[in-house]
Amino acid sequence: MKKDIKVTVRVYGQEHVLETYDGEYRNLMMLLYDKIYIDEFGECKGVGRCGTCHVHVLRAPAGLVFHDGVEHTTLSRLGNTNETSHLACQIMVDRHINGLEVEVVEGSGGGY
Ligand code: FES
Repeated sequence: MKKDIKVTVRVYGQEHVLETYDGEYRNLMMLLYDKIYIDEFGECKGVGRCGTCHVHVLRAPAGLVFHDGVEHTTLSRLGNTNETSHLACQIMVDRHINGLEVEVVEGSGGGY
């Protein structure tokens, strides 16, 4: 499969450009979990409840739609959110995220 989806991720002061393809990972959290070691990231494995996969979206490609299910409730429990806050586990990996830029918000573990 051609890796035709690129996502830029900033974490621990470093920038990573990750390449993937439609369907390789279920969501952005799984992609980050697999490619970059981030302490205490993705604790609930994508259920959308823990908040440890909190990212700030620095650049969203046109056409990317964020799904607002459990995300809003979980983000409301975290203290360091802003209007660019999203849960990486609620961002699906498909062609719509090509060009996405995010920054991992460290220390977002909100507990259950
Ligand atoms: S992995 Fe727990 S909220 Fe995303």
